[in-house]
Amino acid sequence: MRDFALIHLNGVRREVRGRDALMMVADWLRSELGLTGTKIVCAEGDCGACTVLRAFVRPGSDPTAPLNFEMINACIMTVAQIDGSHIVSVEGMRCGDELSPAQEAMRTCHASQCGYCTPGFVMAISGMVERHAQADARTAANYLTGNLCRCTGYLPILEAAVAVRATEKHSVAGRYSNAQHVADSVAATSQSMRIDHAGVTLVAPVSVREAVTYAALTPGTRVIGGATDLGVQVNKGWSLPSALMSLHLIGELYESKITRRGVSVGARVSLAEVRRMSEGVAPEFARFLNLFASPQIKNVGTLVGNIANASPIGDTLPFLLIAGGEVHVASRPGGKGAVQRRSIPMTELFTGYKKLAVEPGEIITHVTFDRTQPGEMLRLSKVSKRKDLDISAVSGAFSVTITARGRASAPILSSARIAYGGIAATPMRMTDAEAALCGELTSERIERVAQMIAASIAPISDVRGSAAYRRVIATNLFRRFADEVLCG
Ligand SMILES: Cc1cc2nc3c(=O)[nH]c(=O)nc-3n(C[C@H](O)[C@H](O)[C@H](O)COP(=O)(O)OP(=O)(O)OC[C@H]3O[C@@H](n4cnc5c(N)ncnc54)[C@H](O)[C@@H]3O)c2cc1C
Ligand code: FES
Ligand code: FES
Repeated sequence: MRDFALIHLNGVRREVRGRDALMMVADWLRSELGLTGTKIVCAEGDCGACTVLRAFVRPGSDPTAPLNFEMINACIMTVAQIDGSHIVSVEGMRCGDELSPAQEAMRTCHASQCGYCTPGFVMAISGMVERHAQADARTAANYLTGNLCRCTGYLPILEAAVAVRATEKHSVAGRYSNAQHVADSVAATSQSMRIDHAGVTLVAPVSVREAVTYAALTPGTRVIGGATDLGVQVNKGWSLPSALMSLHLIGELYESKITRRGVSVGARVSLAEVRRMSEGVAPEFARFLNLFASPQIKNVGTLVGNIANASPIGDTLPFLLIAGGEVHVASRPGGKGAVQRRSIPMTELFTGYKKLAVEPGEIITHVTFDRTQPGEMLRLSKVSKRKDLDISAVSGAFSVTITARGRASAPILSSARIAYGGIAATPMRMTDAEAALCGELTSERIERVAQMIAASIAPISDVRGSAAYRRVIATNLFRRFADEVLCG
């Protein structure tokens, strides 16, 4: 078993052990390596000042394939979690004496004033250029939703992002893809990893069998997905749990597939990948995921992490509740015998505030959901204080199937499904309201169902909105959807 995390940083191989491996990447770069170009402002994944590019060498990767560099936030991930990755920080962007295309565009568009946010923007634009040689204004704005600037103003920055042109010479993948480095990472990371420091143990097993055996023998083990929830909690003062298990070396958990029934998503599949996969099979879910966090967060955060976090305002949960979602778990009770697997329907998963029907020692291996059916009308909504990069006050998922038209061509609904987040201690499916909605859709029926919804939810008051506000939002989201159905 390895006692180090293997990282290639700006093309240089590094073995990182003990205390350093448990530091957040941004702290490690700045205080241990003196690479202070990467800034820390919020330390919560919200501002993008700490953006770096990362290519992860998945278990079993082809060493000759070019690396795929994506932007991530370095402030909320420990070094141990980027084990097996190639990282490029802003110091790695210069090409000899030349600025990179993103740096040059920021300079010529006067897109920097105090400069504190600038390295983060340079890295986000560089991440965009790795995928889009030349981006339009809309694409540029989407890629920059995870970066904040307090003094320049966004217009010159967006101008720089649109003006930038990829060049072969400056391509990060071209410069840093090195078959020897990749082969080295694949060889090292085919071994499990264990980091011990100051009473904290972080393990990274290489198979589900090894993972569930460790979990059974080490009660209280905390599983890490992308750590976009966990990393923020740690930076807010929550100490690292004493037993952590990262799933990043388990090849099986990166599997995702589209089946006749729907989609299967492994526990390590990022939300960015889920968004891309959903485009053909659940296009409304793909559209909705554009409003989820930022590209940096979606490149590491997982769908399984959103479920396992069990927050009543997890954005994907209302959709999964009405789309036949199921979580699939593995365990090895007592740490002996065969790996046991079982499935839990999403409708039976949430047992209380932040509580799941997942037993100690079980890990979630994947989640499945149904494809959107022909004739199904699906709408997903989220209300938050800010459109981008914000947590919902209330979210809603609505789906109906129209089978015929009645008097005055009013639609007749043969099925209806409704679920909400942010209106109770758990996300909730509204089965009584669903039954009441079926039949001929009239204004009277819509109002009756809206009143039923208002009476059956129990929102809380907090910084995101009062209970009364949430109740109004929840019913209005339903009314807006029903009016859309009514108007065809
Ligand atoms: C800036 C920012 C913006 C965000 N915006 C949004 C947003 O718009 N909408 C939204 O819903 N959320 C948002 N989030 C929250 C977070 O990004 C999501 O909940 C994400 O899906 C979590 O996935 P993860 O893999 O990072 O989970 P992690 O942080 O790794 O884990 C979350 C929880 O799940 C458990 N867990 C993870 N994997 C497993 C597994 N395989 N088996 C068992 N337990 C497991 C962990 O132990 C932990 O308790 C945001 C977070 C940040 C920092
Ligand atoms: S420091 Fe703000 S996102 Fe990392
Ligand atoms: S240039 Fe000052 S924060 Fe952006």
